[in-house]
Amino acid sequence: MFFIARYAISVVLLLCTLLTACTPEPSGKQYHIGFSQCVESDAWRKTMLKDMKRELSFHPGIKLSYLQADGNSDKQISQVKELLNNKVDILIISANEAEPLTPIVEEAFTKGTPVIVVDRKIATPFYSAYVGGDNYEIGRMAGEYAINQLQGKGNIIEITGLPKSTPAIERDRGFTAALKNYPSIRIVERVNGEWYKQKAHDELSRIASRYKDINLIFAQNDVMAAGANEVYKSMNAKLPKIIGVDGLPCNGCGMQLVANKRITATMLYPTGGEEAIRIALKILNKDEFKREHLLNTTVIDSTNVRYLQLQANKVDSQQREIENQQSILHRLKTIYNNQRTFLYVLICSLVLALSLGGLVLYSLRENRRINRKLKQQNDEIVEQKDQLEEMSVKARAANEAKVAFFTNISHEFRTPLTLILGPLEELLGATKNQPRQTRNLNLIHKNVIRLLRLVNQLMDFRKIEVDKMRVQATKNDLIAFVNEIIESYQSMAATRTIDLRLITHERQLLVWYDVNMLDKVMFNLLSNAFKFTKDGGYVHIYVSKNEAGDRVVIRVDDNGIGMSEEAVDSAFELFYQGEFENHKGSGLGLALSKQLIHLHKGTITLSSQKWKGTSFEIQLLLGNAHLDKQEIAENPTMPAIYEDEKVYSTGQATEPPDVPEESQKKTEREHSILIIEDNEDLRGFLKARLEAQYEIVEADNGQSGLQQGFDIVPDLIISDVVIPGKDGMALVNIFKTDIRTSHIPIVLLTGKTKTEHQIEGMKNMADVYITKPFSVQFLEQTIKSLLSNRAMLKEHFTSEMPSNLKTTTVGKMDRKFMSEFTALVESNLSNEDFSVEEICKKMGISRVQLYRKVKVLLNVNVNDYILNMRLQKAKYLLQHEEATISEIAYTVGFSSPAYFSTVFKSKFGMTPKAFKEK
Ligand code: FRU
Repeated sequence: MFFIARYAISVVLLLCTLLTACTPEPSGKQYHIGFSQCVESDAWRKTMLKDMKRELSFHPGIKLSYLQADGNSDKQISQVKELLNNKVDILIISANEAEPLTPIVEEAFTKGTPVIVVDRKIATPFYSAYVGGDNYEIGRMAGEYAINQLQGKGNIIEITGLPKSTPAIERDRGFTAALKNYPSIRIVERVNGEWYKQKAHDELSRIASRYKDINLIFAQNDVMAAGANEVYKSMNAKLPKIIGVDGLPCNGCGMQLVANKRITATMLYPTGGEEAIRIALKILNKDEFKREHLLNTTVIDSTNVRYLQLQANKVDSQQREIENQQSILHRLKTIYNNQRTFLYVLICSLVLALSLGGLVLYSLRENRRINRKLKQQNDEIVEQKDQLEEMSVKARAANEAKVAFFTNISHEFRTPLTLILGPLEELLGATKNQPRQTRNLNLIHKNVIRLLRLVNQLMDFRKIEVDKMRVQATKNDLIAFVNEIIESYQSMAATRTIDLRLITHERQLLVWYDVNMLDKVMFNLLSNAFKFTKDGGYVHIYVSKNEAGDRVVIRVDDNGIGMSEEAVDSAFELFYQGEFENHKGSGLGLALSKQLIHLHKGTITLSSQKWKGTSFEIQLLLGNAHLDKQEIAENPTMPAIYEDEKVYSTGQATEPPDVPEESQKKTEREHSILIIEDNEDLRGFLKARLEAQYEIVEADNGQSGLQQGFDIVPDLIISDVVIPGKDGMALVNIFKTDIRTSHIPIVLLTGKTKTEHQIEGMKNMADVYITKPFSVQFLEQTIKSLLSNRAMLKEHFTSEMPSNLKTTTVGKMDRKFMSEFTALVESNLSNEDFSVEEICKKMGISRVQLYRKVKVLLNVNVNDYILNMRLQKAKYLLQHEEATISEIAYTVGFSSPAYFSTVFKSKFGMTPKAFKEK
């Protein structure tokens, strides 16, 4: 959506930019024209400026910088510099005097600024164009007119303009040239009027008295001519003919002077203002232009003045009309511009409105689509929610039913367990003098207690869950209470050399608590501590008041195997069984302890460090203000009655010394069995069951199991699958792949019932895989048949050997050597390349040692022994297998069946074929 809005705005902006770009700009470029005027006080100069401005009004966008120098050449030089500094594109100049202004104009031109000289020239050809009247021609025309007026004879006074200005010079030259052929016409005086009326008046006044009968005065401009007229008029002398120059149509200007007969005639001298601007634009636009632009002139006298005045008036009124039109045009343009701007804004707004409209439509559609989708999702969610609710109701009901069943069944367990317990205790008392029975009954007793405890814990949970369990607090001495509990662990602590102590400064500490609950908690904590603490470790119980004196703190510290951070976090969770495979709990004890302490409004926390130890801390409030009325026992001063003493007792009551029965006394037994099992009870039980017939060696972890296996080379190994140190599967693998132990039958015992586990066990070459719980008779039978099979095989292999080969070796090492040697030979019977060297290498002994040892133990040569074994096995296979003679020959390591037959016959007196048939 944001993207679309941005897109719409971009489109509108682009459109506005395009529209603005299409706006018609004033034609032509934007130029800057600089105009340096020598003087501006007279009408002629004012007219020139007006003409320029009027022409410029047709070219909007051209800037005119105008400076006038009041007839001062120095001032004009600095003004030109100023214009050039302002970076004018072209300079128009009417030089006050030619020489002084020449260098600056030349410099400007050579540096690249075009220069248009108007009216008054400069003394250099370095300019771009000249615009102005032909002053020489004007002087000459004035001369002609004078000749005509004087009819070839008479005296003239010439009033000149500023002598160093080019019009003054050229007009004089033209005038003089025209009179050259008329010697009777003389210029009797030349007066410098500097182009000003007053100056001319003053200068002429000085000499006029001498020239009262002067015939003609040629003034180089009309203002000086008017001055002359006034001089002679004031003298009351005969008015001479007066010729002026400029011929402007304005009030008091040349044409009016002629019309009023104050002067005789005037030579038209156009200002050239318009032309100068036009040429400037041509230069700037790089169009073609005429370098010398001389303007036309004419004589204005009484014969044409009226007509010219009329014409001038007309031109003037036309000019005004044009100006009027221009101002109207300007106004219209302004209106047009405003309207155009308005139109653009309107178009932009329209486009924006359309875009936004489109956007809104799109958004609406999008919204509707999203809403539809949301509604659909919502419906689905509602449906799912309903289904979930339905499922959760069902699940709750199922769970309720399950829990109820569980509780009922737990309850049902209690009765039979209790019924077992009673007679059992009776039996225990009756069999005091029969250690073997006593031990078995103790084992049953311990496990019945364990079951009962679990059942009770489950039921306690149920009670807490349904809010039926209430604290029944009595005021008790906590020190005595803890001491009492510790007492029941003392014998176990002594057996396992665990330092069990209560550490406290208090002799007596009266605390309100439910003895049956705290008792369960304490037994749990201590059971845990003992479970995870190694023999020789410590379990310390600290009892003290906290600093504020409002709580009692009970801490149980041990230096056992500790827990990881994750295990600490989950320790109090129901059914969390811990992180140690071989120390798994029920996941009930700690969770129940926490609930029981919470019922007391107390806290129980735990801190632990792996491999360092664990510390549990219980805090209970002192006094009974925190307990409800119902939570205080009706008769709180009566000593509390323990409900489950037996159930929570350690089960570690001192057992009668294990006096071996006469029949069990150690005799030399034929076979040895290694039992690898970490569960002490089970290990003890198995040992007790088997030691009558077999020599039993025990190992409680994988490492020692491995060690014993290789040291003793037992006749059979029974191993648990889950044992600390190394797992059972790995052990089987090691034993079965080592020549020294590969022949030993292995029975795997495990709680893992899954078929995959059994397959894995068999893959690792375990001979038998028995799952717990198992029948001991079955185990005993299995052991028997495994050993007899082994014996039969051996018997078979050696039965045909001379009797002196059957050894009765008894030494452990010799037996070990024999096992290794025979096993090595047995496992290589099919290998025809099997050699004495290989045996030496595998057994790590020298050739001589091998020969000597085999000779001593078996009284036979090693090679003979191998050959014998091959033939014995061949015999066995011929009797028991369906294989062909050739197959059997290869199986027992002969390179060819023929050779096998020969050797067999020489040994047994008949061919293998005959033997098989027989
Ligand atoms: C105006 C003027 C005109 C004359 C011209 C000569 O300043 O004196 O009257 O024709 O200059 O440059």
